[in-house]
Amino acid sequence: MRILSGIRSSGQLTIANYLGAISQFIALQNEHECFYFIADLHAITTPYDPKTFSHNVLDVAAMYLAFGLDPLKTTMFLQSLIPEHTQLQWLLATITPMGELERMTQYKEKTHQGDPADVGLFMYPVLMAADILLYKPQAVPVGEDQVQHVELTRSIAEKFNKRFGETFPLPEPKTLDKAFSRIKSLQDPAKKMSKSDDNQKASIGLMDTPEQIRAKMKSAVTDSKKDIVFNPNKKPAISNLLTIASGFSGLPITMLEQQFKGASYADFKMAVADMIIEKLTPMHEKYYELIKDKKKLKNLLVDHSHKAQVIASETLKEVQEKMGLAL
Ligand code: AMP
Ligand code: TRP
Repeated sequence: MRILSGIRSSGQLTIANYLGAISQFIALQNEHECFYFIADLHAITTPYDPKTFSHNVLDVAAMYLAFGLDPLKTTMFLQSLIPEHTQLQWLLATITPMGELERMTQYKEKTHQGDPADVGLFMYPVLMAADILLYKPQAVPVGEDQVQHVELTRSIAEKFNKRFGETFPLPEPKTLDKAFSRIKSLQDPAKKMSKSDDNQKASIGLMDTPEQIRAKMKSAVTDSKKDIVFNPNKKPAISNLLTIASGFSGLPITMLEQQFKGASYADFKMAVADMIIEKLTPMHEKYYELIKDKKKLKNLLVDHSHKAQVIASETLKEVQEKMGLAL
């Protein structure tokens, strides 16, 4: 099966990105043909600093590799190196209804927060549809917040196929493990954990130090009563922490409930912090080694982007012909 997904290179990645996306990416690479890319063109739809931006890109690349992405098995490319993405975006925009884009939750949330409503932010899902359809993948592993965009991609693909002839297989949004598809904020379990949250304590960054992780876990909100049980309706904060603990320890939630029976919330939170630290420490060592050689990282991205572009340009050509744009 062909699989494709991407992560925006905007600031520090969080443990939610790891549980909801990166860990799934890595798990899939042994059995499938995988394409994972860095969505830098999506990252610039929200405020950013051009001076540090290229560092963010290399940062994501190093992190993918440090977590175990194998460049011999998987194609890891950079979106902006392949102009076919923006070319196909335009072609798809001509068959995308405005109304569909207006009802996208991410767009509504971002404009609601007071971000300036630029056309780029509005077109975000059309570019995402182009990212996906260029490679004709069967599945797209993403967290819950991106499922709506993958569904829109399916509807654009369907429309294209009907109008211009069978071209795109319909991609499935794939959440390997539903439990990890929506990790919540440590400060407010009604909200998703997000790297763009203003409250620094709401999320744990993948590059946070053990001290930072312990401090953030210490201040994580809990629920009333004292028992450590999984019940997302009645105990949303504890259930979120149990989910995180399960993702980092590999233990099922029922086993963790047993293990922490009678423990205090404070002790439980410190144990969860330790599980996260245990997983991240070896990753940090690899990351710092990789990020030392920026040239090597850059060459890897360029090389893999060339490989990806071969497929992208074939699809674009096919689309142009079907749309009557080829002379
Ligand atoms: P982003 O940081 O928005 O580029 O997201 C990268 C990937 O992480 C996407 O597949 C998201 O769906 C996933 N993701 C982001 N936030 C969460 C979350 N709170 N829980 C689970 N997955 C998430
Ligand atoms: N929009 C996705 C996010 O915020 C990143 C992304 C861009 C993506 N293009 C994609 C994910 C194509 C999957 C497929 O996480």
